[in-house]
This record gives sequence, structure tokens and C-alpha cells, in this order.
Amino acid sequence: MTIERTFSIVKPDAVKRNLIGAIYQRFENAGLKIVAAKMVRLNAEKAQGFYAEHEGKPFFDDLVAFMTSGPVLVQVLEGEDAIVRYRELMGKTNPDEAACGTIRSDFALSLRHNSVHGSDSPESAAREIAYFFAEDEICPRD
Ligand code: PPS
Repeated sequence: MTIERTFSIVKPDAVKRNLIGAIYQRFENAGLKIVAAKMVRLNAEKAQGFYAEHEGKPFFDDLVAFMTSGPVLVQVLEGEDAIVRYRELMGKTNPDEAACGTIRSDFALSLRHNSVHGSDSPESAAREIAYFFAEDEICPRD
């Protein structure tokens, strides 16, 4: 087991429906500690940069429009094997395919309005954390 950090977003659909507390409870119940957090309103440039690997895909403009449609909460989660365990906790991208009891199965509305984002690899986690947080904004926990 390795202690890792991963990057997470509570997306606009979940913020709008007042699901922040319920989703944070899922993180903490799973042993994922929140070591940095802030609410932000992304502009198009910031969202396009974050999702740059998907530029050119058919859903790219929809994704950027959705992610700039309202405030999001961005956070760094820390814990044993945090990257894979958080991906499991979220469930599959499409909530119709997500396993019962996962965040997306329980809260997401559609493939587009799928409530949460999580890094898919150690490389993505490092890039995504640094995209939103300076090192001194991250508070290691006991
Ligand atoms: S891919 O092509 O397999 O790498 O894409 P995928 O991992 O399934 O999805 C990448 C992100 O794009 C979002 N997505 C969409 N948004 C809007 N409309 C449609 N049709 C759509 N399809 C995928 C998806 O929620 C992923 O967002 P993140 O924030 O990475 O979870």
C-alpha cells in the first residue's frame, strides 16, 4: 500500500443540487482525507487547459460548456492507493454503467452531468493537482 494524492472535482451539477456534503462524506467514509479544497468558477480557458487531452473529441465543447456553467469544488484527496480507490468510489463515467453504491450511480444525472471528476493515473494526478493548487495550499494530515 502506498499513500498517494489524487485530484477531485465536485462538478457543477452536484454543487447546484447541494450534494457537496454528501459527496465529501463518501470521501471520508472511504478513508480519503481532504488535504486541500477550494470553490472556483472556471472560465473557458482554464477548463480547456484542464481537459486539453480531450481537445478535438466530439464532446469537448459540451464538456467545457458544462464545467464553466457554475461553481465547482476542487480538492486533493490523500490516502492508501488513493488514485485507484477514488476511481472505484466514483464509478464508471456513464452513471448508467456505474456500480451500485458508487458516487456516480447514486448522484450523477447523465454522462455529461456526472457529478465528480478524478485523476486516472499518477501522472494525471500530479498535473491536475499542480493545475489548481500551490504546494503550500496542501495541508498534510496525520
Ligand atoms: S475518453 O475519450 O474515453 O478518454 O473520454 P472519457 O474518459 O469517457 O471522458 C472524459 C471526460 O469527458 C466527459 N464526457 C462528456 N462530457 C459531455 N458530454 C459527453 N458526451 C461526454 N462524454 C464524456 C467525461 O465526463 C469525462 O470527464 P471527467 O471530468 O474526466 O470525468
